[in-house]
Amino acid sequence: MLDDESTSNPTDNRPFEDVLDARFSRRTLMVGSLAGAAVAFVGMPSVAEAGRAAHATPASGGGRRRTSIGFTSIPLQDGSMPTIAPEYQFAPLIPWLEKLDGSGDSYALETLTAREQESAIGIGHDGMWYSGDDRRGLLCINHEFGDNTHVLGVASPTTLEQVRLSQAAHGVSVVKIERRSGSWKMRPSSLNRRIHVNTPMKFGGPAAKSPLLSTPAGNAPAGTLNNCSSGHTPWGTYLTCEENFNGYFGSTGDWTPTEMQARYGLSAGGFGYAWHEFDERFDLANPAYTNEENRFGWVVEVDPRRRKTKPVKRTALGRVKHEGAAVTVGRGGRAVVYMGDDERFDYIYKFVSSGNWRSMIRRGISPLDEGTLYVARFDDDGTGTWLELSTENPALAGWSTDEILVYTRAAADVVCATPMDRPEWTSVGPNGEVYCTLTNNSRRTEADAANPLAPNPDGHIIRWTDSDRHVGTTFRWDIFAISRDVQDADGQMFGSPDGLWADPDGRVFVQTDGSQPNGNNDQMLVAGADGESFRRLFTGVAGCEVTGLTVTPDRRTMFVNLQHPGNGDPSLTNWPVPFSGADGPVPRDSTVVITRHDGGVIGS
Ligand code: FEO
Ligand code: CA
Ligand code: CA
Repeated sequence: MLDDESTSNPTDNRPFEDVLDARFSRRTLMVGSLAGAAVAFVGMPSVAEAGRAAHATPASGGGRRRTSIGFTSIPLQDGSMPTIAPEYQFAPLIPWLEKLDGSGDSYALETLTAREQESAIGIGHDGMWYSGDDRRGLLCINHEFGDNTHVLGVASPTTLEQVRLSQAAHGVSVVKIERRSGSWKMRPSSLNRRIHVNTPMKFGGPAAKSPLLSTPAGNAPAGTLNNCSSGHTPWGTYLTCEENFNGYFGSTGDWTPTEMQARYGLSAGGFGYAWHEFDERFDLANPAYTNEENRFGWVVEVDPRRRKTKPVKRTALGRVKHEGAAVTVGRGGRAVVYMGDDERFDYIYKFVSSGNWRSMIRRGISPLDEGTLYVARFDDDGTGTWLELSTENPALAGWSTDEILVYTRAAADVVCATPMDRPEWTSVGPNGEVYCTLTNNSRRTEADAANPLAPNPDGHIIRWTDSDRHVGTTFRWDIFAISRDVQDADGQMFGSPDGLWADPDGRVFVQTDGSQPNGNNDQMLVAGADGESFRRLFTGVAGCEVTGLTVTPDRRTMFVNLQHPGNGDPSLTNWPVPFSGADGPVPRDSTVVITRHDGGVIGS
């Protein structure tokens, strides 16, 4: 999503009073040049004691060998069509409005109805997961947001039908895709489906039956929205993550936020969607729908191969503005989920299942329903602690499990987690190291070792390795990259890192969402796990975010997304069709299929 200007954390969790001189704590990097040859950028060494300690003991172990990155780095650009490294090619797939029937046809935006949108690809393409073989499979894809002007053609809805259309454009699509004669297309399938803001849902886990999740109206749980990044489980399900849910609620009357509502950024006007004016479920002033907002902000599990199953909101993973959910298998076969809460000064979380995921499923228990939730504290000596968010933690005396899971942000405040610079995606690398993008934080005034710039307009990427193969409560961390220190021939390479994937060979793919050097377009880069080589693989179109990242099992096809191309303005781009100017079609969010001319592994 575009930069979120809100900040909801009122606490003063600043565990590290030894503030670093940010200027000296940045990391020195060597990056790939535009011609592919290395340009050494020798910056100042770290002199801050804490930063030196953190940087001198890489979280994932020293002495790693350099990972091969075998393409020609391309320049940034500000044009209306994407660009890609010369060894590669790209093609659009499943743009917003493409019908789910596999015909390849799309509905017309000018006459679009809510019913049509419910049977077509949504807008705001974001996190996704490809599940299949190297030629055909299911693509699960998030539809994060689409503003009213883009979807409805007006700034504010005037009818419930318009609200329903906006709601239908949000959520998730599951579609079968297949490669034939070298190109990928959606295919007809009984599994093709849309999940949106009015799709029936259910809750799982410890807080599922909590009064905090029921309304006086008694309406059944429905819908998912602002589906940002994602994850997938070893048992074959998709995790879609609800991020800025607060923006869809508003108030038609007298309403003052409770402390907990304020902590989640709920406001009378929301983000301007104005759903609450026609759909009372989203009206914070309507007492019949008290607690409706508590039904959003969850990680939602979707079984893409069982069309009739309701998506399940997994309460054990806590309620925050969930960016993503990176799942790995830890010691003893436990399912471990890493999650960022994307807001300024919010936190990084981890969930560990209570047992081996296979045996839990054999016993009919979801591994995401029983386990322990933690929040991260980063200490300035390069170590860290996972703080337990449960009634077992004495710091949470007086809290119930329901309260901890529904008001997770406030519980994390109490245990003194480390406020971070907007945690976005997490990804687990081949050596067990975990990466997290910290996209930016223009409001930071005090640096700490883990967030070493104040302010931090361009973001950084942090990395840690947990003790006890992901299930322990301590970790070692280091800074993988600080955006402004990564240089290309033009002086700076990227800002606002967001999408992230650590591939099985140790490469780290980084996608951006926000200000890029010299006002250029967002992009996707590839770095070595040594953190000392970055190359630019792909650039998006004007006004778009590059996000979403998934691959076929052979890693010879990669799918990424262009979200909000041109911010809906056809004078900037008509993507996914070639640019013909302001009179051309309104640009449409779309997936992009990336392959190599020689059919090789992406990034190698
Ligand atoms: Fe939806 Fe934080 O990006
Ligand atoms: Ca994001
Ligand atoms: Ca972002």
